[in-house]
Amino acid sequence: MDVQAKIEELKRRYEKIKEGGGQKRIEKQHEAGKLTARERLNILLDEHSFIEIDPFVEHRCTDFGMEKTEAPGDGVVTGYGTIDGRLVFVFAQDFTVLGGSLGEYHAKKITKVMDMAMKMGAPLIGLNDSGGARIQEGVDALSGYGQIFYRNTLASGVIPQISVIMGPCAGGAVYSPALTDFIFMVDKTSYMFITGPQVIKAVTGEEVTHEQLGGATTHNTLSGVAHFVFPDEKQTLIAVRKLLSYLPSNNMEDPPVVETGDSPNRVEVDLNTVIPDNPNKAYNMKDVIKLIVDNGEFFEVQPYYAQNIITGFARLNGRSVGIIANNPSVLAGVLDINASDKAARFIRFCDAFNIPILNLVDVPGFLPGTDQEYGGIIRHGAKMLYAYSEATVPKVTLIIRKAYGGAYLAMCSRDLGADMVLAWPTAEIAVMGPEGAANIIFKKEIEEAENPAEVRQQKIEEYRTSFANPYRAAARGYIDNVIEPAVTRPILISAFDMLMSKRETRPAKKHGNIPL
Ligand code: HXC
Repeated sequence: MDVQAKIEELKRRYEKIKEGGGQKRIEKQHEAGKLTARERLNILLDEHSFIEIDPFVEHRCTDFGMEKTEAPGDGVVTGYGTIDGRLVFVFAQDFTVLGGSLGEYHAKKITKVMDMAMKMGAPLIGLNDSGGARIQEGVDALSGYGQIFYRNTLASGVIPQISVIMGPCAGGAVYSPALTDFIFMVDKTSYMFITGPQVIKAVTGEEVTHEQLGGATTHNTLSGVAHFVFPDEKQTLIAVRKLLSYLPSNNMEDPPVVETGDSPNRVEVDLNTVIPDNPNKAYNMKDVIKLIVDNGEFFEVQPYYAQNIITGFARLNGRSVGIIANNPSVLAGVLDINASDKAARFIRFCDAFNIPILNLVDVPGFLPGTDQEYGGIIRHGAKMLYAYSEATVPKVTLIIRKAYGGAYLAMCSRDLGADMVLAWPTAEIAVMGPEGAANIIFKKEIEEAENPAEVRQQKIEEYRTSFANPYRAAARGYIDNVIEPAVTRPILISAFDMLMSKRETRPAKKHGNIPL
């Protein structure tokens, strides 16, 4: 064979591999509203930036007729490319090849790019679309998953890891995404579960559809397993690019600074009227966030789960911040089990990746009730205290209205290491709300009064005047300053600028023991 013939052979071989499982299966994939692995990578990565690794890898299984089974790329496309010019490593399971099932060499291809991502300090993005462990390969397939889980854990807190679920993800396979930082799902075409509907029916008799059991809505609203859902694959992949724009490539770097064009000195008079005069009336905290951050752009994380707390990324003067905010328009903004879990995980992500944290506080307390107590609100709420206390990134807390009791502390008070605590004049910092407080400390006087309702109201007002304001806390230095809402943006930007050189050392230890 001459050189030209060898080159032709290379091209022919690679073209065949690029066809994956063949035209018929590609059509089936398209008919299901799904793209192929390579089509997905083309959307995810900057144009022409994808460089494939290991296209010629083959499985070595000889059981159940596998020696005669062609499996181009062994059912997964791996390599590297760029997003907004920054290096990322990727794997995309190819459902047209053996259902994207994971065998020994499929797993080796994935662990190779994981190792490279770790060495190069670049994010890893996995596009999951797979029938799970390749049944013919038995324990070799299970071992492959184990090797991926192990690396997911080693990489945790070192490089951002993002999982995108674009088809089936079932059985133990769900645990790799679960070990990564963020899970994206595509509405209606993706699902995740440990045991499928048939097994559930056989074991418990319960009947449930794939979609009800582990569809995107389920995991984005009920279980909290997923962080994002988008209507189709293209929008999902574009959202992954957007998320990465807020993140550094690894834990040794700072997030990229973006020229947003929004003035750091912008005064926003609308903030002076955003809080209703009646302290018991709700408002939407997202309106506050949008008025403060650059160009009103807020990239919300878990927008459909535990909506009483808001988590997400924004920029202040071009720099990324992670925002944690109570939302008084949902359950009055109380902290409960799910809100605590959601916030604590987000805080730890921000801390691991050098993203400063902004806390916007309007919280009436922890949700009372047996559901919460039996569910372990003590254990879950403690995660927030732990995560805030442990975080050494710059932490700025702004108390907007209510900050009562344990929830005042749990939203990153000065005592949990907030570097700067600010309050609006509408802030109320107390052990509990004036109504509850008056009922307890003036119980006797109210009961014995000729007109109990009137006296009760008087006592509530008395308590509100003396405690439900920011000045008691400011007098003790728990709050650094009380500010006019309109100037919030310039003051926050100045606070984060001041905190840029923050260094904080902690006692050396193997790792802490966060309540789980
Ligand atoms: C080998 C598999 C496979 C698997 C699918 N295929 N899953 N091959 N191992 N796990 C193959 C099919 O044989 C078929 O091959 C092609 O992929 C497409 O599958 P279909 O069934 O035709 O597609 P569809 O109707 O869309 O159904 C998709 C599916 C179904 C729901 C994923 O294939 C399915 O239930 N597969 C088995 C899922 C499963 O139980 N996996 C093990 C989970 S346990 P042809 O040649 O016809 O195209 C697990 C443990 C991990 O993963 C443990 C980690 C610790």
